[in-house]
Amino acid sequence: MKGLVFTEFLEMVEATFGDDMVDTLIDNTNPASGGAYTAVGSYPFSELENMVVELSTQSKLSIDDLLQTFGAHLAKVFSQKFASFFVEAGSAIAFFREIDRHIHVEVKKLYPDAELPVFSFEEANDTTPFTLHYRSERNLHMLAYGLIKETLTYYSQPHSIELEHWQENGQYHCKFALVPKD
Ligand code: HEM
Repeated sequence: MKGLVFTEFLEMVEATFGDDMVDTLIDNTNPASGGAYTAVGSYPFSELENMVVELSTQSKLSIDDLLQTFGAHLAKVFSQKFASFFVEAGSAIAFFREIDRHIHVEVKKLYPDAELPVFSFEEANDTTPFTLHYRSERNLHMLAYGLIKETLTYYSQPHSIELEHWQENGQYHCKFALVPKD
């Protein structure tokens, strides 16, 4: 997993829980990499998993809540660092259509060793709302949930998000149905 995810995770931990918590997580999970993450490096996903579990123990917040908060943090960072994707898309739904066919494609060019989820979507019709379908070897659908929620906030386009998640053939799946709020 890309170092950018680790550096941003630890930024979020520092801003929300203080810098002592960063030290506690690294001391208690003892990552093989040593814990001195750089944005351009790559590190085992298990090191992030261990830190999230430890943060849940330390903070008494659920893993799902922590992943969601981290997703929202990432969306804020991405909307500044990769602002052009957000500006070009112009709306939340247009942005979500572009994750798989444009945004993550560019991410892969920038970081060839990035391990990305797959997103497909179904357009809204008379009976069902626009639905984004997440698929990954990693169980990070709540990270996606935070990213989606914050992206809707970025575009000031309130929607309620109905999610359904399951595992199939060793992959984690989640469907996010986005129902416009008026
Ligand atoms: C400009 C916007 C975006 C950029 C630059 C971006 C970039 C990235 C990068 C660098 C990674 C890490 C890959 C690795 O560690 O190897 C990643 C992973 C991920 N991205 Fe994106 N992303 C963007 C938007 C989104 C959005 C809107 C969503 C959700 C709907 C999303 C969902 C995810 C998830 C869930 C992962 C974790 C890996 C996994 O679940 O398998 N991304 N993205």
